[in-house]
Amino acid sequence: MARVYNFSAGPAMLPEAVLKKAATELVEYGASGMSVMEMSHRSKEYEAIINGAEATLREIMNIPANYKVLFLQGGASLQFAMIPLNLFRNSKKADFVHTGEWTKKAMPESKKFGTVKVVGSSEDKKFSYIPKLDKGTFTPDADFFYICSNNTIEGTRFRQLPDTGNVPLVADMSSHILSEVMDVSKFGLIFAGAQKNIGPAGVTVVIIREDLVGHAADGVPTMMNYRTHVENASMFNTPPTYAIYIAKLVFEWVRDLGGVPGMQKINEDKANILYNYLEESSFFKSPIAKEDRSLMNVPFVSPSEELDEKFIKEATKNGLTTLKGHRLVGGMRASIYNAMPVEGVKKLVDFMKKFETENR
Ligand SMILES: Cc1ncc(COP(=O)(O)O)c(C=O)c1O
Repeated sequence: MARVYNFSAGPAMLPEAVLKKAATELVEYGASGMSVMEMSHRSKEYEAIINGAEATLREIMNIPANYKVLFLQGGASLQFAMIPLNLFRNSKKADFVHTGEWTKKAMPESKKFGTVKVVGSSEDKKFSYIPKLDKGTFTPDADFFYICSNNTIEGTRFRQLPDTGNVPLVADMSSHILSEVMDVSKFGLIFAGAQKNIGPAGVTVVIIREDLVGHAADGVPTMMNYRTHVENASMFNTPPTYAIYIAKLVFEWVRDLGGVPGMQKINEDKANILYNYLEESSFFKSPIAKEDRSLMNVPFVSPSEELDEKFIKEATKNGLTTLKGHRLVGGMRASIYNAMPVEGVKKLVDFMKKFETENR
């Protein structure tokens, strides 16, 4: 069977070129005589891989020198707890913008260790927009200010970052890191699970400003202390070696496509193809406020749940898979991450047009 266009929200498509390169190196990596999977993480060969991954990520995200890059395990979800455990150091207060399922999961973890204030929420309209914020309501002495900058399930994204002054801005970028240019210096901490725009599940990237490292209380477990991983260059214990190797190949792939600015242009073109059609269609609709629409996750609905189901089934038969919306939201969702070729989006829109004609 040929490869399909896989619209999964994650784990998601990887660039075919990366998979093919990894395949050629799967059994023997370079002159090492072994697979990367079999290699000691302390070996010279592997050191070059992890250092290369970091260097290329630094290059493509333009990460300033006063930021540390970590490759951790535990998924993006572990960061929900590591952030308060490490960043609550003075007031033990945090501001959150509540934009959906992933902030709903993150907030309780911070509440275990401090005080959380919701300074904006879009819960009133099923998280279909990014709330407008009033700076006057922000907690001036908060230890951090938390956003999920792209909401995978709901399909919204922050276009403008909140101005948090001296309060470190923390962003869950799991579902749109490397998809558009971000000014890292505006953030105290950025984190992202790999399984959408970085590589296979199993590694989580954390980018943290130096001055925020080293404040965890003594009782914080060693593995949950950022300092442990900074001091050991992500090698305190065995890192997810193969996932980091694939991430390195993905970073190189992004670099060679014009870096993140190049990626952003491709992503804007892809998203426009789909959103423009959703605008003109009288059959399919996007439930998301126009100005807040994600470039990566595009939820949409047909006129009925029965038609949604029929659409998903028929699309799958046509090599357009994993289009079912999240169980909490229903309908459809097309995740069009960096690795989704423009042809995949064009094929989806052609199929939607045909389905609309046949089922109107
Ligand atoms: C925005 C966002 N944050 C966090 C997570 C959780 O990631 P993980 O499964 O790596 O813990 C996801 C997973 O899809 C996500 O989309």
